[in-house]
Amino acid sequence: MIIFKKVDDITNFLSIAKENGVATGFVPTMGALHNGHISLVTKATIENQLVICSIFVNPTQFNDSKDFEKYPVTIEQDIYQLEKAGCTVLFLPSVEEIYPNGLEGHRHFELGFIETILDGKYRPGHFQGVCQVVHKLLEIMLPNKLYLGQKDFQQCLVLKKMASINYPSIQIIICPTQREADGLAMSSRNSRLTKEQRLVAIEIYATLQMVSNKSKPGNTYILKQSAVQYLTSKGFKVDYIEIANANTLEPVEDWNGKEKIVVLAAAFLNEVRLIDNLLINN
Ligand code: PAF
Repeated sequence: MIIFKKVDDITNFLSIAKENGVATGFVPTMGALHNGHISLVTKATIENQLVICSIFVNPTQFNDSKDFEKYPVTIEQDIYQLEKAGCTVLFLPSVEEIYPNGLEGHRHFELGFIETILDGKYRPGHFQGVCQVVHKLLEIMLPNKLYLGQKDFQQCLVLKKMASINYPSIQIIICPTQREADGLAMSSRNSRLTKEQRLVAIEIYATLQMVSNKSKPGNTYILKQSAVQYLTSKGFKVDYIEIANANTLEPVEDWNGKEKIVVLAAAFLNEVRLIDNLLINN
């Protein structure tokens, strides 16, 4: 695996690959890699000749500075795992390399409704930051395919929108959420949970399953409320439990039983914010 830290160096390298028609797959990450990330890399190695992964903890997407400061960094282990999974190129830039003109005053992305709800509402500016960095990374990599994890469901829809406008030829591949044996969605933030919190954390997935099992045509309000109450009783501070259209994320108040829906949750255990989702009838 070749590691690049400078935009110019990786650009030169990739331009030669592209001149030779090499199919490239790109997996953007913030490091602290787990099997969720590795499943994206593995899929990319099957579908491409060259697999590029980036590790960059992007400061512009953290609306909470504490979350940014405490974001886990495990670079040695990450490099080892990527190499083992068959990643060909790792891009490991500094903040100055990605944002040479500083962190302020970036282009605004018109994302519309999708950034006004759920994580867009509870983490103001988050998706603008995600788009800023992914736009920049795609400009550098110009991959054939971009790999994203379903765990960040809203992020997938936001990036699909951003890419469809700015990079229409890039194919977006959404890969299923990887889970621990007890169902907890794999996430870099899980490493910040205490032993006790880790045991409680499985309740998010249990709640999503409960909502999925009990979903039936009609009003969704009581089901959502009982899910919030359940998680709260387990010690979570719930940002949201929402049942939404799986393509637009418009909340579904009265389900007709046919519309493709997804249930999404975001909740804190102490200061660790966990998210998860489940497609219901897709
Ligand atoms: O999902 C993530 O880890 C990040 O939001 C991403 C896509 C790498 C952008 O920083």
